[in-house]
Amino acid sequence: MMGDEECVIVVREFDPSKDVTGVEQVEKRCEVGPSRKLSLFTDLLGDPICRVRHSPAFLMLVAELSSTKEIVGMIRGCIKTVTCAKKLSRNTKSNDPIKPLPVYTKLAYILGLRVSPSHRRMGIGLKLVLRMEQWFTQNGAEYSYLATENDNQASVNLFTDKCGYSKFRTPTILVNPVFAHRLTVSNRVTLIKLSVSDAESLYRRRFSTVEFFPRDIDSVLKNRLNLGTFLAVPRGFYTQESWPGSDKFLSDPPESWAVLSVWNCKDVFRLEVRGASRIKKTLARTTRVADKLLPFFRVPSIPDVFRPFGLHFMYGLGGEGPSAAKFVKALCAHAHNLAKDGECSVVAIEVASCEPLKNGVPHWKRLSCDEDLWCIKRLGEDYSDGSVGDWTKSPPGLSIFVDPREF
Ligand SMILES: CC(C)(COP(=O)(O)OP(=O)(O)OC[C@H]1O[C@@H](n2cnc3c(N)ncnc32)[C@H](O)[C@@H]1OP(=O)(O)O)[C@@H](O)C(=O)NCCC(=O)NCCS
Repeated sequence: MMGDEECVIVVREFDPSKDVTGVEQVEKRCEVGPSRKLSLFTDLLGDPICRVRHSPAFLMLVAELSSTKEIVGMIRGCIKTVTCAKKLSRNTKSNDPIKPLPVYTKLAYILGLRVSPSHRRMGIGLKLVLRMEQWFTQNGAEYSYLATENDNQASVNLFTDKCGYSKFRTPTILVNPVFAHRLTVSNRVTLIKLSVSDAESLYRRRFSTVEFFPRDIDSVLKNRLNLGTFLAVPRGFYTQESWPGSDKFLSDPPESWAVLSVWNCKDVFRLEVRGASRIKKTLARTTRVADKLLPFFRVPSIPDVFRPFGLHFMYGLGGEGPSAAKFVKALCAHAHNLAKDGECSVVAIEVASCEPLKNGVPHWKRLSCDEDLWCIKRLGEDYSDGSVGDWTKSPPGLSIFVDPREF
């Protein structure tokens, strides 16, 4: 046990020139789960700010013991502008159709909060959150939110009881393994790869009123980690060569279609399932061998997740029409094959709990997470469009835009 005088905690900005090892040690200590249980280890590939660095503004703080300079906790945060509501255009020209427009707000996001097991329940987590919120407010953020597992009592209590957050949305993370065989894309569907500018205009025209839509969607799409935006249309409608551009497409779209973008998380972090028994590992290996030897049998093989593996994240899912889910399925098959080419082991997507296109996304229930809990807090009241009111009190929409930069 430490004397009180030794426990002075200094919260300061992360310094990449001297803090990387200290931060990695805290990450490692936090991964130790109950023995004999599977745990998911994340390797940030030596870059502790990798999960916020692509956002327009970000900060990482560390908590250090003043006596020994040991790092015992950290937190990351970022701020960006996203859609929080929609309003109808007040265009006075009577023959213009009234269309919904996005209402934007400055939103802060907290992630990667960790406190060393040896220094928990000493108020360090709370201190880190309060300091981060201070930075959010100084930079004009109106709301702050975070994602946590529903059953993480420590973090749910910290944010809801002590910091004034409320439970807000419960999106679903769907995860599918990458098999040793390729998936076939239905021959009734044509896939078109959109240019960045076409993808941007399609997203802005059709999805900018979806909750959490990032106003800087163009920088997401231009990022080197973005592997492309793909559109699925009925065969014979358009080909890659005859594609007329998003504006023309949207002025006369087919009855059903869907769109999806893919993000390469493999170059940002690696995951590893730890604690699996030898039997489980052998079983998984056997399925892979069978699938590789006999690809035409399409054995649903289990990828090697017991060594560090990469993933692709699918985002920007959308579509219209009665068969949209079928088009989503074709897009997911294509994303699976991209992930296989990229030597990833899983593909994941996060969608709103009532997302109507969810049915089209193939996934393994055991790998997925039904309820990722998002908590939110209003930091200030005198910011965005007053007519919209308090976002934290609004009911969920059918869809949500999950930004791949912070997955
Ligand atoms: C969540 C975590 C950061 C809390 O850090 P901490 O420094 O122990 O938290 P604090 O001492 O500041 O606790 C503040 C409040 O949070 C709640 N809390 C913290 N740990 C708790 C626990 N184990 N059980 C229930 N409530 C808890 C309590 O309300 C506590 O106030 P109290 O001590 O007056 O009762 C820490 O447990 C941790 O690193 N967990 C693993 C990583 C993680 O889950 N991160 C959160 C992801 S968003």
